[in-house]
Amino acid sequence: MLIRRAELKDATGIAQVQVAAWRSAYRGLLPDDVLERLSIADSARRWQGRIAQHWGHIFVAEREGIVGFAACGENSDEDVDQEKVAELYVIYVHPAEWRKGHGRALWQEALRCLQKEGFEHVILWVLRGNERAISFYERLGFAADGASRIKRRSDGTEMPVVRYRRRVAPAYIIKETALDGDHANYVGHGKYVIEDSPLLKR
Ligand SMILES: CC(C)(COP(=O)(O)OP(=O)(O)OC[C@H]1O[C@@H](n2cnc3c(N)ncnc32)[C@H](O)[C@@H]1OP(=O)(O)O)[C@@H](O)C(=O)NCCC(=O)NCCS
Repeated sequence: MLIRRAELKDATGIAQVQVAAWRSAYRGLLPDDVLERLSIADSARRWQGRIAQHWGHIFVAEREGIVGFAACGENSDEDVDQEKVAELYVIYVHPAEWRKGHGRALWQEALRCLQKEGFEHVILWVLRGNERAISFYERLGFAADGASRIKRRSDGTEMPVVRYRRRVAPAYIIKETALDGDHANYVGHGKYVIEDSPLLKR
C-alpha cells in the first residue's frame, strides 16, 4: 500500500470510496434516502475542486486503485486557536478494506505533515454514534473535548457531531546518550540519539 498526495485524476476514486464508506458506516445513523441519493459524480466534482484549490493536504491510500483518503489543514472553529490547532477534515477507507491498517497509515502521513507545519494540537468532528470511527480515533490517542454541534449539509440533512482532539506529538524524541559513532548527534556539549516517537506507533 502506498500513501501519496492526491492528484486531480484521483477525484473519482476518492468519491467512490467516500460514497461506499458513507453507505456502510452511516446506515442507521442518517436516513436511508440521504444515503441512496449520494452521487459519485457530484462527489468527484467537489473533490476535483478541493484538489485544484489545494484544500489543506489531501492524501490517498493506493493498492490497485484508491482504497482510502484523508485531508487535514487549518481549523475554522471560532473557539479554537487557529495558529496552534489543525483539523483532520476527513478520513475514509473503503469498507472492503477496513481493518487492514490503511486508516492508521493515512493518519500517520497527515500527522507528519501537521508536525512539520508546527501545529500543537489537532481536532476533528465525528458523527455522534459513529462508534467504529470513534474507536479508531481513541486508539490513535484522540479524546472528546466536550464540544458538539449540528452540522447542516447542503441538502438540508442535519448531522449531530462531536469534537475530538489530540496533541500533535513531535516527530522524534531526543535522548541523551553515552554512545559514540554514527548514531550520536552533537548538540552544544551534549551527545544525543534521535528516535521515532512512540506516540507515532500507537
Ligand atoms: C474509521 C476508519 C477510517 C478506520 O480505517 P481502517 O483502515 O479500518 O483502520 P485501521 O485498520 O488502520 O485501524 C487502526 C486501529 O483502529 C482501531 N479500529 C479500527 N476500526 C475499528 C473498529 N471497527 N472497532 C474497534 N477498533 C477499531 C483498531 O485499534 C485498529 O487497530 P487493529 O486493527 O490493529 O486493532 C474506517 O473505518 C472508515 O472509513 N470508516 C467510515 C468512514 C468514517 O466514519 N470516517 C470518519 C469520519 S469522521
